Amino acid sequence: MAANGEWHCEKRASSKIESFARDSENVTETGCLSIIVLGASGDLAKKKTFPALFNLYQQGFLQLNDVHIFGYSRTKLHDDELRERIQGYLPVENKVSSNVSDFLQLIKYVSGAYDSQEGFQELDNAISEHETSKKSREGSSRRLFYLALPPSVYPQVCKMIKTFCTNKCTLFPLKYGDGLSSAEHQRTFKIIHSFFLDLVFAAGLSGWTRVVLEKPFGKDLASAEEMSAQIGELFDEPQIYRIDHYLGKELVQNLLVLRFANRFFLPLWNRDNISNVQIVFREDFGTEGRGGYFDQYGIIRDIIQNHLLQIFCLVAMEKPVSNKPEHIRDEKVKVLQSVNPIRDEDVVLGQYRGYKDDPNGVPFILKAGKALNSLLVLDLDRELMKWLISVGSKQGRNEFVIRLQPSEAMYMKLTVKQPGLEMTATQSELDLSYRQRYQGVVIPEAYKRLILDTIQGDQQHFVRRDELKAAWEIFTPLLHRIDEGELQPLEYEPGSRGPVEADKLLEKAGYVQT
Ligand code: NDP
Ligand code: BG6
Repeated sequence: MAANGEWHCEKRASSKIESFARDSENVTETGCLSIIVLGASGDLAKKKTFPALFNLYQQGFLQLNDVHIFGYSRTKLHDDELRERIQGYLPVENKVSSNVSDFLQLIKYVSGAYDSQEGFQELDNAISEHETSKKSREGSSRRLFYLALPPSVYPQVCKMIKTFCTNKCTLFPLKYGDGLSSAEHQRTFKIIHSFFLDLVFAAGLSGWTRVVLEKPFGKDLASAEEMSAQIGELFDEPQIYRIDHYLGKELVQNLLVLRFANRFFLPLWNRDNISNVQIVFREDFGTEGRGGYFDQYGIIRDIIQNHLLQIFCLVAMEKPVSNKPEHIRDEKVKVLQSVNPIRDEDVVLGQYRGYKDDPNGVPFILKAGKALNSLLVLDLDRELMKWLISVGSKQGRNEFVIRLQPSEAMYMKLTVKQPGLEMTATQSELDLSYRQRYQGVVIPEAYKRLILDTIQGDQQHFVRRDELKAAWEIFTPLLHRIDEGELQPLEYEPGSRGPVEADKLLEKAGYVQT
């Protein structure tokens, strides 16, 4: 039931599609698909969203449907001007010119403000025109709104979408509960209603409206909750797709399979066997003109509260009841809710030298820069050390490393006998480098995968509202202390390992560099 008490087919349609999308791979939706990129003039849209759509189009995921793409933002642009902006960012290796121009022809642009009734009505007219031209049956159309916009405008944009642009489904103007005071009447209503909706679904009138939201979802617990409440008034949770693009990365998606489909790992993956886990995000470039954004948000909000915390959940969670999205997300929430409050002595704040030289910039950056890769290290079983020393090994720790990017790989550092006459031990690796093992396989880009999930109604790799709340609960007290100047960043050299204090923290956690 929608928040306003109306029971309409949108909600039913989305939940029905969800179960179909997962329970049966043979079900295809036939309604006309419109993808609307709001903030189309911006950076994310041109670098990520449109290229991901192009990729999907090229591989036939969009061709199967009657798809049309709309760009919307305030900048005054002609269709061709938007197309020109995008063209240079479409993936080069696949640039078959006819494909590119066919794809670009799918794109129409509407200019308007984010609080403008006229703008959104014009957008709705453009979408409806496309749906009519494809002879889409009323109620069957699918509208995916991708908000590539600053989060400050999400609530007003969602309101405009809800008011003027949701897919048209006027079959059920009934107010659920109106005049149905007794429980029995309500039950009867539900049964009739459910039967009626089944007919609608069977008739192919299974359209939907979905909104994709980009991070950051709020700045702290209160602001995130406020935004969730505002958007929750307008759309039901199955319609809201909060993107954390790390959940679309190949090796992040591999974590659950790796953990729960390998007997080898099942008995090992616990506190008796793992002395510490490091989840490290490193970039070899600085804020690159995004200093203004970083001044406001900082690395904890930009990377740790979302990307790294998602990986943390997948590493730390218990085995879900099943691989259904809701079961997986339930387990993630449990992990988040069991995290102890963060103490100041467990935190090292760093800021690379030169950060303040960014024309926009001032504050701090946490250890999440420098070097080239994102990785996850599970450092296994330090008790073995004693035995290893007895066979002459000074190293001997087992590390399981998952390198998310670049050059995806998993490898296990283990101790073996040094080949030769002597009985000495040495460190070696069991190595699964994707480039070697899966030659010629193109690893899908995260945005492409996640947009496809949105079209297919699969929310597994998206952040649920209670998950978001639990994530903010962990970091908000620390962030407030930082905002109030109670913790100061330590300066470190660009390109270095970060502050040495961070290494000391690792040592405290039991990690020994080998
Ligand atoms: P931009 O700053 O490029 O903004 C996108 C568009 O929004 C602009 O072209 C502009 O369009 C409009 N806009 C900008 N500022 C405002 C404002 N204050 N009020 C209203 N409209 C505004 O953002 P990005 O494209 O970089 O990012 C979009 C979203 O994606 C953000 O939430 C960001 O945090 C997130 N994100 C971005 C990433 C990236 O790599 N860029 C990575 C991960 C997440 P116009 O003026 O034409 O209306
Ligand atoms: C974004 C952050 O969410 O992720 C950026 O806002 C960061 O600061 C980016 O650079 C990293 O993404 P990826 O996919 O390049 O690791």
